[in-house]
Amino acid sequence: MSPALTTSQAATGVEVPGDRPAVRLSNVHKSFGRPGAVTPVLDDISLDVAPGEFVTLLGASGCGKSTLLNLVAGLDKPTAGTIEVPGPRPALMFQEHALFPWLTAGRNIELALRLAGVPRAERRPEAERLLELVRLGGSYDKRVHELSGGMRQRVAMARALAQGSQVLLMDEPFAALDAITRDVLHDEITRIWAERQLAVLFVTHNVREAVRLAQRVVLLSSRPGRIAREWRIDLPQPRRIESSGVADLSIEITEELRGEIRRHGKH
Ligand SMILES: Nc1ncnc2c1ncn2[C@@H]1O[C@H](COP(=O)(O)OP(=O)(O)OP(=O)(O)O)[C@@H](O)[C@H]1O
Ligand SMILES: [Mg+2]
Repeated sequence: MSPALTTSQAATGVEVPGDRPAVRLSNVHKSFGRPGAVTPVLDDISLDVAPGEFVTLLGASGCGKSTLLNLVAGLDKPTAGTIEVPGPRPALMFQEHALFPWLTAGRNIELALRLAGVPRAERRPEAERLLELVRLGGSYDKRVHELSGGMRQRVAMARALAQGSQVLLMDEPFAALDAITRDVLHDEITRIWAERQLAVLFVTHNVREAVRLAQRVVLLSSRPGRIAREWRIDLPQPRRIESSGVADLSIEITEELRGEIRRHGKH
């Protein structure tokens, strides 16, 4: 950002588009239930994710991570506070691939392209390009049941990218995969994130995974979920999950996570 832009921004109060966060949560509260039996789940969450930034969210089971992602995805509304996501609606990817089993890998991606408004003639070549990107070139005609778990998550990743958003929300996307497949997909998501300069908000229970992937790790406390602590991860990418740098930070973060779980009762 040039100093001139900073000055004009300060003088006019007009935000320069390039400076805007890809995701901004301001004092977000979320409660479930009905009057008289309200359970606060998220309490005063303020969090910015910069364009091109990779943030992982950690926290005990039930602390509100998926709730937070759903709010950012626009699937639910906060009880109070605001969520700003300039640009197209973020893409959301889950632990389960949620592909349509009656469609081929390619057709699943084409459907997302259609919903994103991509003209018919461009859909097939673009679906093939996205399959190449996730290293599944040649799998266009494969049906979902013919794909391994790792391949299905690759198709799900391609489908999420087909939505054309610069914001990718991932809710434990690799949790159901074996360690080796997960390791390979860590490399893939790191590569695609860097190539496409995506803003990623990634939920996981796996502290090493959080450190392996992120530029910033955010730890949520429980009942209600609040931001307990953040770590900036400056280790160079691509990282190895078994490297000593990742291991050392993971030990420190795990200690804090354990502390949060102890403070707030059962996991
Ligand atoms: N639609 C809903 N209606 C009522 N309560 C809900 C709803 N969605 C979530 N909750 C409650 O909000 C709390 C947080 O749930 P959430 O799924 O966000 O947790 P999480 O951190 O993603 O947990 P996990 O790590 O197990 O996936 C839980 O107590 C859950 O029961
Ligand atoms: Mg969850």
